[in-house]
This record gives sequence, C-alpha cells and structure tokens, in this order.
Amino acid sequence: MPFYLKQPKQSIISLLIGCLGFMVCLTACQDDSLQKAKNPYEFVAPSNFPEPTYTFYNNELTEEGFKLGRKLFFDPILSIDGSISCSSCHDQSLAFADDPLHPVSIGIDGLVGTRNAPGLANLAFMKEFFWDGGVTHLDFVPINAIESPVEMGEDIVAVVAKIKNHSEYPALFKAAFNTTEINMPLLMDALAQFMLLMVSNNSKYDAYLKGTASLTTQELKGLKLFDQKCESCHSGILFTNQGYFNNGIDSVFSDSGRAVISANPLDIGKFRVPSLRNISLTTPYMHNAKFRSLEAVLNHYDNAVLPSNTLAPYLIQANGALGIPLSREEKEAIIAFLETLTDYELLNNSIFFKD
Ligand code: HEC
Ligand code: HEC
Repeated sequence: MPFYLKQPKQSIISLLIGCLGFMVCLTACQDDSLQKAKNPYEFVAPSNFPEPTYTFYNNELTEEGFKLGRKLFFDPILSIDGSISCSSCHDQSLAFADDPLHPVSIGIDGLVGTRNAPGLANLAFMKEFFWDGGVTHLDFVPINAIESPVEMGEDIVAVVAKIKNHSEYPALFKAAFNTTEINMPLLMDALAQFMLLMVSNNSKYDAYLKGTASLTTQELKGLKLFDQKCESCHSGILFTNQGYFNNGIDSVFSDSGRAVISANPLDIGKFRVPSLRNISLTTPYMHNAKFRSLEAVLNHYDNAVLPSNTLAPYLIQANGALGIPLSREEKEAIIAFLETLTDYELLNNSIFFKD
C-alpha cells in the first residue's frame, strides 16, 4: 500500500465515542449501523508537497467510497450508449492520459473533441482543472465529461436513474455513503475519491530527492537546465505554478484558452501550465496535441515560438528574439531529466486496477 494511504489508529477515546455512538444508535438510528462498517482513509500528503486544495471535510475518503469510484471510473454506464468510460480516455498505463492514437479525445459515436486528454495525477493539490481552468473543484469535473456532447453525451439525470436500477450499485452506494440515496453529488464524490488517491511522488526524481537513488550526469545536467529555463512556469514539486500562459504554439488561437472562462481578451491563447510529471508517457503534447514528442516540444521552445499579443514575456529575449535558446545537447539533457519524472509505482499500483 502506498504510504499516503493510512488507516487512522483507533484510540481509546474514539473507541469510547464509538461505543457511545453505538448505544445512541441502538436507541435512535435503527438502520444506521452501516456507518460502523466504513473504513476511513486518511489522506496524508507527501511531506514535500503543498497543502492539498481538496475539501476533504466535505467528502471523507473511505475504502468503500474509493472502490465505488473505481467501479464507476471503468463503467461505460456513464455514457449515453454504454460505449465510453472515464478509463477510455484516461488509461493507467499512460499515467491516466489518452492513447496517442487519440491526439484529441474521441467520445461516443467516434465524435472528436478539441483538446488532448491530460494525464491525471496529484489532483488533490490542484487549484483549477482543464486546460483553461474552467472547473474549480474536482467534484465538478466528472459531470463535465458525462454531459459533454463529444465525450459521454449523457444527461446526468439519466445516469443516476440507470445506477439506481442497477443490480450492484445501490448496495455499493449504501456501503460508501451510508444512505439509500443515490444522486449526482454522491456520484461525483465517489469518482473524486478514486482520483484523489492518484498521488504521483514515486518517480526516480522523487527517489533522488529522498536520497534513495542518484541521477546520472546527463539527468543532473538536464535538471540544472530545467531549473534555469523552465522552472518559472513548471515550478516546484508539482511541476506547475498553476498559472495561465501563452507559450507561443500559435499566433492565432482557434481555442482561446483561458479567455473562454475569463472573457478577457488579454487571456486569449493562455493555457494552464501543465504538470510535467509522467510527461514521457503522455504524448502528444499541448492542449491541441500539436507535438508528438518531447524533442518537438524542446525544438518549439528553442526556435519555433510564435508571436502574438499575449505571448508570455518570459519567452521574449532581451534582444526581441522569441523562445528559449537551447543547443542540441541541452535539449537531450532536459529530456533525460524529464524522463526521470515517470512514476512506475502509480502506473502499476493495483489499487487502480479494474475489479
Ligand atoms: C472522450 C474522452 C474523455 C472521457 C470519456 C473522459 N475524459 Fe476526462 N478529460 C478529457 C479531456 C479532453 C480533458 C481536458 C478537457 C479540457 O481541458 O477542456 C479531460 C480532463 C479531465 C480532468 C482534469 C485534469 C486536469 O488536470 O485538469 C479530470 C480530473 C478528468 N478528465 C476526469 C475524468 C473522469 C472522472 C471521467 C469519467 C466521468 C472522464 N474524465 C472522462 C477526456 C475525457
Ligand atoms: C512562460 C511559461 C512557460 C515556460 C517558461 C515553459 N513552459 Fe512548458 N508549457 C507552458 C504552458 C502554458 C503549456 C501548455 C500550453 C498549451 O497547451 O497550449 C506548456 C506545455 C509544456 C509541455 C507539454 C505538456 C503536456 O502535458 O502536453 C511540455 C513538455 C513543456 N511545456 C516543457 C517545457 C520545458 C522543457 C520548458 C523549458 C525549456 C518549458 N516548458 C518552459 C508554459 C511554459
């Protein structure tokens, strides 16, 4: 079990409270004894991570809730024609990103979306979601996928009805939430519980930070260059400052990015800085899947940054030239470093496997 999953220890006090609760329950709640069957998980953030942004007090993690979320994540029942599940576009072996054959996502009826499905990791620490930050709470992400006409194309009311009539789900909801109620918020809570445990902090780079692995000379050279040239945006342990920037992949943007949400023309072409954890597995790159390899991304920063009004000032050099000049050797070293960010423990962790 990964170390961020911890069953809280039963203290004498909590046992006493439990007994008391049980006695009160015996007299008052009759059918509420299931509460005692719940196995809470305590979410412990890795010590070098920032404080989680997720509101755990509204959605207590339990083993039952996590398992319900897992079943839902793999279940095409969430789509209108039973053909697409969350896992269709978020594949664990690709760090929960989409198949490279689907540069932009493919939903029901082969409908083509407009954006590349990002990998999923460390969602408990993110302030906003999607390339434009249009969703501000993890609990609201799934409904967007379910109701998107080009993803799952299903009405949430219809999903809830299907789940209510399902042979297994009602018992699983009861076990997870101790109520016979099945509704949209509980559905979102369960999916969030599943995704919250996708903590990625077991890459070679993390082992290096902990002192349990060493990086090669080439990887160390890449780390140094990365800190000098990329870290201002892909910052800190999450490899994102969670801000919005135009990194010059287009001059004219068919997807206006952050401006879709803010309606501010100064945000046209700005996108959320993506985390670079597990980046070697999540090809193609950028919101519109413009680049197929890390080499292509590095060549872009070096010599193909395009001008526009909102281009990040960081990508404009003192002499007015655009981009971040990098030699071939420097690019190779940065790629070697980026490859140390792959977390094989997350990719192989059986708690995320389909039942
Ligand atoms: C048809 C493909 C597809 C399906 C199905 C799908 N997603 Fe996604 N997912 C995407 C795309 C594309 C994005 C980026 C959307 C954007 O930025 O506008 C995304 C974004 C996300 C994000 C935000 C990640 C971040 O860092 O901002 C989460 C979380 C997520 N999806 C979870 C889910 C869940 C849960 C389901 C099932 C209910 C699901 N997805 C179903 C394609 C899909
Ligand atoms: C000014 C801020 C900024 C700087 C500096 C910057 N990036 Fe980025 N990076 C971004 C933004 C914003 C995106 C997403 C753009 C989009 O999708 O339209 C991005 C995307 C990427 C991606 C694709 C991620 C994905 O999931 O598709 C990679 C890889 C990347 N950057 C690597 C680097 C490297 C390496 C450097 C240093 C040489 C660097 N970046 C410097 C802002 C920056």
